[in-house]
Amino acid sequence: VIAHATELLTCAGSAAPIRGEELSRIEILKDGAVAVRDGRIVAVGPTPEVLANYAADATLNAAGRLVTPGLVDAHTHLVYGGTRHADWEDLAVGRPATGLGGGIMRTVRATRELSADQLRVRALRDLDVMLAHGTTTVEAKTGYGLDGETELRLLEVMANLRHEIPVVATYLGAHLQPTDYPGSRADYLKLVRDLLPEAAKYAEYCDMACDPACFTAEECAEVATVARAAGMRLRLHADQTGDAGGVALAAQLGASSVDHLDAISAAGRAALASSPTVGMIFPGVSQHMLDTIPAVGGGQPSQPDAPGWVRQLIDSGAALGLATDYNPGTCPTPSMQTVMQLAARLYRLSYAEIWQMCTINAAHSLDRGGEIGSLEPGKRADILVWSVPEHGMPIHRFGVNLVDTVLIAGKRAQP
Ligand code: NIG
Ligand code: FE
Repeated sequence: VIAHATELLTCAGSAAPIRGEELSRIEILKDGAVAVRDGRIVAVGPTPEVLANYAADATLNAAGRLVTPGLVDAHTHLVYGGTRHADWEDLAVGRPATGLGGGIMRTVRATRELSADQLRVRALRDLDVMLAHGTTTVEAKTGYGLDGETELRLLEVMANLRHEIPVVATYLGAHLQPTDYPGSRADYLKLVRDLLPEAAKYAEYCDMACDPACFTAEECAEVATVARAAGMRLRLHADQTGDAGGVALAAQLGASSVDHLDAISAAGRAALASSPTVGMIFPGVSQHMLDTIPAVGGGQPSQPDAPGWVRQLIDSGAALGLATDYNPGTCPTPSMQTVMQLAARLYRLSYAEIWQMCTINAAHSLDRGGEIGSLEPGKRADILVWSVPEHGMPIHRFGVNLVDTVLIAGKRAQP
């Protein structure tokens, strides 16, 4: 039993992704407790009530501390080689910078050079950092191989990570047509599709980049059809650098998530609002790419009374989640805490909204809303004990790690 939490945030009560004003309604128990047995949550409530039923169990005293669900990072490019910090300095000081495609290719070349073992060791180090910062489930995608051999190597690496954090694998062969691919665009997309039956042995999801800089909606739809036939569910990178009709396509396909959305169209917004697909947004990317990826309506609101594109999405009824998009180019931070801090600053979201978007809504985007993302009886005991007492404090105090203890499936996890 974890007892006497000053605040216990349950994020409970939603069988479907949370939308609109509901996002601001969050359950906070004062002097809360959570009981765990065999890796599962068995009770949540006021401390005296829980202790009355689980008196014999060992107790962790969380007095003076905040207790929350573990953070769910539902979009990362975890397995890669190299670093792009030099490119970012160019961007920062205003020298001619490498664009999205050129940047991805840099990482592709560095990734192809590494063995499975080297890639695995590097990814494990990142997972340790994520764990220390409170991530308890992570999605990871391929997409830096972009040839048959390396894409399969990345899938195998993801399947063999063996870390305390459960990793949900996604195949992203349709990230970008590599500039060194010898054949036509159609040939490359055929290769992507031909890999799907093998990829499906490792990856639960198939991701595609539907973006003016990557692939068209038509091309993505063809990949999606084959992915479905191979038994995979879908996620999309959509409409990041411009409107490619990606959001509408994702909604039409019933994708589990549609990610980025910076350049979403009015039609895309309408489609998302009436679909179960969860829109994932990335304040780490907004922050790190400076002004090179302008969002709809001209970017971020500098004043809280300017609605901003994310507020417009929430108001329109879209179900949204937050993730890092951790990758060496557009978001080099693996920390969901940093993402939470940036979400408040850049998207003007409330603490309650941010918590729901990093826990239960992110879990729904991975089709795991019944398993993780909230503190409720029956769910896996992924629990954070923080070194501060109130749920606004980890978002307010930017730049420090305030996670004290991480439980994954009821076990204390230590990087
Ligand atoms: O931000 N369309 C793809 N965009 C990727 C870029 C990753 C990178 O720059 O390496 C993304 O998810
Ligand atoms: Fe991404």
